[in-house]
Amino acid sequence: MAIKNPKVTVVGAGNVGATTAQRLIEKNVCDVLLVDIVDGIPQGKALDLMEARPVELHDRKIFGSSTYDATKDSDVVVITAGIARKPGMSRDDLLKTNAGIVGGVTLEVVKHSPNAIIIVVSNPLDVMTHLAWLKSKLPKEKVFGMAGVLDAARMRFFIAEALNVSAEDVQAMVLGGHGDQMVPIARYSTVSGIPITELLPLQKINEINERTKNGGIEIVNYLKTGSAFYAPASSTATMVEAIVQDRKRVLPVATCLSGQYGLKDVFVGVPVVLGQKGIEQIIELKLAPEELEALQKSANAVKENVAKLTELALV
Ligand code: NAI
Ligand code: 2OP
Repeated sequence: MAIKNPKVTVVGAGNVGATTAQRLIEKNVCDVLLVDIVDGIPQGKALDLMEARPVELHDRKIFGSSTYDATKDSDVVVITAGIARKPGMSRDDLLKTNAGIVGGVTLEVVKHSPNAIIIVVSNPLDVMTHLAWLKSKLPKEKVFGMAGVLDAARMRFFIAEALNVSAEDVQAMVLGGHGDQMVPIARYSTVSGIPITELLPLQKINEINERTKNGGIEIVNYLKTGSAFYAPASSTATMVEAIVQDRKRVLPVATCLSGQYGLKDVFVGVPVVLGQKGIEQIIELKLAPEELEALQKSANAVKENVAKLTELALV
């Protein structure tokens, strides 16, 4: 059942946070509270978005705050607080700074909303999600990360472009950590049910896989001062909608595995059923040996970075 009058908080009123809030209100999904450490930014962006209401024709409300009292009893909290990449930086370069930010934000969030579902967006995504889960002490199904929806959206777009078909009819599957070792799976990527392996030559599929893996840095290299935010915001808003409307959407989400795919106690992207309770089911796909090996390699890279959190005494 959909959550009645859901309270949704987005922490971090920067590019991803503010655009996620915009998508949520303008698509009439829910009202939003926007929080940022910089006083004035969330209030100003919220007022600006409210002033767009008469033109965008919706009645959703958005509020801004630089403290956490207003977040009390949120049903869903999205964490986008942190720094973004600049050219030459990997997502992992953000680890130390963002661990301090995400750890602190998570403690504030659970202090005011002990039953919230937390969606982490800050990078390095899988590690920050693991950290938020540890800090929050919430059950695994209530803390997860957004990356797979974005990575799959990029792959869907590249497939649609290559075949000159509507992106609406394209589905794609990307597994693993949100890093250089993510694992696009062509066999499970389809156009209206037809596997792309039937529609595209292997060389083109390999090019699409590589472009998907480098989708984040491609945008960073254009923008130079930050990273992508329109597609990340659409992807995050889709996850919020799946939860508050209890849609039971099947989406790739960074979740803590407990034996699936031969992996345990590590957050990586796999398909899940997303609904009002958060992660309602983890779907274990049948993978070819080389696909499984690539997923396990990607998970090991995440594990190495989680170990760095302990080395740096950040957990
Ligand atoms: P941004 O710099 O535009 O916004 C970040 C916001 O966080 C700023 O407004 C800043 O004031 C705020 N902030 C910093 N410390 C805070 C704290 N302690 N409490 C509350 N707010 C705080 O960055 P952008 O582009 O919005 O990216 C945000 C994060 O999301 C980055 O780490 C980025 O790498 C990540 N990201 C992840 C994606 C994914 O697929 N998982 C996709 C796109 C971005
Ligand atoms: C992206 O993939 C920055 O992780 C972010 O665009």
